[in-house]
Amino acid sequence: MADTGLTSAGAAISGTPSFIGTIVVTITASDGNGGSASDSFLIEITAASANRPVLPAALFNYANQNLPAHYTQQNAALGNVVGTDNTPNNNPVTDEGATLGRVLFYDKRLSANDTVACASCHVQANGFTDSAVLSVGFDGGETGRHSMRLGNVRYYDRGRFFWDERADTLEDQVLQPIQDDVEMGMTLTQLEVKLQDVDYYVPLFEAAFGDDTVTSDRISLALAQFVRSLITFESEFDEAYIAANGDPDDFDQVFSVQEARGFGIFRGQGRCDQCHSTSAHVSDDIHNNGLDVATTGDQGAGDQEFKSPSLRNVAVGGPYMHDGRFATLAEVVDFYSDGVQVNPNLSNRLRNNNGTPRRLNLSNAQKADLVAFLETLTDQNFLTDPKFADPFTGS
Ligand code: HEC
Ligand code: HEC
Repeated sequence: MADTGLTSAGAAISGTPSFIGTIVVTITASDGNGGSASDSFLIEITAASANRPVLPAALFNYANQNLPAHYTQQNAALGNVVGTDNTPNNNPVTDEGATLGRVLFYDKRLSANDTVACASCHVQANGFTDSAVLSVGFDGGETGRHSMRLGNVRYYDRGRFFWDERADTLEDQVLQPIQDDVEMGMTLTQLEVKLQDVDYYVPLFEAAFGDDTVTSDRISLALAQFVRSLITFESEFDEAYIAANGDPDDFDQVFSVQEARGFGIFRGQGRCDQCHSTSAHVSDDIHNNGLDVATTGDQGAGDQEFKSPSLRNVAVGGPYMHDGRFATLAEVVDFYSDGVQVNPNLSNRLRNNNGTPRRLNLSNAQKADLVAFLETLTDQNFLTDPKFADPFTGS
């Protein structure tokens, strides 16, 4: 390079690259008397910002979120959330791990043709489910079941995942969509090779795991950390809980009269809280809840028993049930009121003493009350929190 006028104050070299790649730049300074010194550095030119994550300089807090007491202490009437945490000892949530997990969750490179990310079927504004009945995978195919909301999955005590619990742990679960023929269409080896070549993963793997080696085990750990960090605890229900100091009879300090009546049905005659349990509103187990299965033949976990996602954010997270058969909460409530079906596997909790299906026979006003209560479980902060949002913002 010709003399560009280096002075003791320095110099600027500029230009606009017309390609993607790495340039080696060597700077040599000569003093005109035979003395010289040189140094080299790299300039990396990468694709447009839409394809790169934008992350905050200081990491978001995923590991020590400011949980209210009802997520950290047992309540006699409303259950023990902290006792249901399925985080394994070998994979606690760290800010570095969850940050990597967030980028992976939103990265379309996890699918064979770069078209589908986890977030394509798990949308934050919908409580991390899909508003479509079935989701569309990388090659245009449809999933066999409706997507699931992901808030509070950490508090499913049984620690198994999917509607039919076929994944034994969350660490197992998160690798399955990647390898699913319909959803993302990759092998784990292909994934490792592909991501090892993506520059922005270098510092993310280093921060989370100490070096930049991409392995499917590390991908699994980081994705599971991000998913476990999706705790939702700032709904109207939580405000009411705090105002009432955990006494379910005093939630009317925050709840409207209608919402308070709906809460009464939920934990009273409806016995909804037996299965949608604790103040995190997660399933206690798999159950048959009396849906008409003749229409689909889906056997679920074996006896037409299914897990339910947490009811947190349910009002923005339809359609409902494993096959998305109900479009609205009003239809769900109609079902529990009038539609619970005879089934040899029907849960005893949904049977009368003589074994027949227990239908609640609610009035129209009571149905509206129950829907109003379910709407108190919506947490706007969770649905818009930047730390759970798409980091690939440049589109
Ligand atoms: C093409 C759509 C699609 C993609 C992509 C997808 N999912 Fe899902 N997800 C679903 C569906 C559908 C289910 C329910 C499937 C079933 O139970 O058979 C599900 C279930 C889950 C569950 C189980 C929740 C529970 O409470 O048991 C988790 C966790 C999850 N997905 C996380 C992820 C992660 C992480 C990724 C990316 C690696 C991902 N998903 C990619 C559609 C998708
Ligand atoms: C015996 C346990 C049980 C009881 C009692 C029960 N549910 Fe459920 N609930 C389930 C199961 C299991 C599912 C998922 C069923 C499926 O998709 O096959 C479910 C699904 C739901 C869903 C849809 C969740 C989603 O993400 O699609 C809503 C809403 C719901 N129940 C509300 C209620 C209300 C309100 C009551 C009380 C009137 C109630 N449940 C009583 C077990 C129960």
